[in-house]
Amino acid sequence: MKYNAGITGIGISIPKKVLTNKDLENMVETSDEWIVSRTGIKERRIADENIAASDLSTEAAKEAILMAGIDAKDVDLIIVTTVTPDMLYPATAAIVQNNIGAVNAAAFDVSAGCTGFIYGVTIATQFIETGFYKNILVIGCDLLSKVTDFTDRNTCVLFGDGCGAVLISRTEEKGIIDEYIMADGSGADFLSLPAGGSRMPSTIETVNKRLHYTFMNGPEVFKFAVKAMPEAVTKLIEKSGFNLSSIDYLIPHQANIRIIESAAKRLGISMDNVGITLDKYGNMSSASIPVTLYEDFKNKKIKKGDNIILVGFGAGLTYGAVLIKWML
Ligand code: ACO
Repeated sequence: MKYNAGITGIGISIPKKVLTNKDLENMVETSDEWIVSRTGIKERRIADENIAASDLSTEAAKEAILMAGIDAKDVDLIIVTTVTPDMLYPATAAIVQNNIGAVNAAAFDVSAGCTGFIYGVTIATQFIETGFYKNILVIGCDLLSKVTDFTDRNTCVLFGDGCGAVLISRTEEKGIIDEYIMADGSGADFLSLPAGGSRMPSTIETVNKRLHYTFMNGPEVFKFAVKAMPEAVTKLIEKSGFNLSSIDYLIPHQANIRIIESAAKRLGISMDNVGITLDKYGNMSSASIPVTLYEDFKNKKIKKGDNIILVGFGAGLTYGAVLIKWML
């Protein structure tokens, strides 16, 4: 027997501190005009020094559970999707498990770059549909400021910090309709954090060479993204048996407004029906999609019963999309 899965609660946690393009003008050779025209980003949020992924994840998870009206003890699994975990191990999800008192939950992290949340929702859905679990927290959390070189204008204008969590539960109606995830590992070198893993353990030398920060080949990632997002949506639509005309809203990963406009155009979706938060939050990696979903739910751009596609791309290179019927 196949069970149905749906989103029954959602929460976010966004740091209060704002870093504007004007602030960045005082840090690197850039301009508000360049950043807005090339990316659409106006400002982003930066977490305090003492805040880590598990702190934001805990706050967002509590809000999602509260909305769903369940007890933390009823959570069966916690998945944190992140490229900026508290530390390499233990999993940030295990720290969150303890923080929220989800004493009956298994916990692990997923590393799929900015596509992390799409991967997390896909994994959770399988566990629900098979009947293995009933309530799963999927938390997309990244604090990219912690791995960003604020002397590198190629990357530091793009990234911000934030977190979004959903509770995915066994539901009567089908809320998560279909999923598509894919990777192209031949592009792994285009987006990476070179040092600190088993390939290049951290040393004084790696720190001096600034290899503990994000490295990105922007133009290559851009080329990949404008192809990958429409492809993921098209494959998902084919697989689901839906057609694009029955899609009410699109929530893409928030890396660059030009990538989003290009994808929307290729798919024939009006920008009026596309969620955008990058102007105020920049690229929050795994958090961008759930935070945009939350904000467009709260400001009523998304209504109960809407068919929504979430689509992302990121380090790996990975990409993917999920089709949901909004139930809240
Ligand atoms: N301010 C001013 N000038 C800049 C800045 C800046 N912040 N950054 C780069 N430039 C310069 C470059 O040095 C270059 O100068 P040059 O021609 O003298 O060499 C010029 O601007 C143009 O650079 P391009 O790289 O051609 O600029 P482009 O239009 O491609 O925009 C950008 C760059 C915004 C990075 C774009 O390539 C992009 O968005 N790529 C995708 C990035 C992305 O999506 N990342 C997501 C993944 S993140 C994750 O998974 C963690």
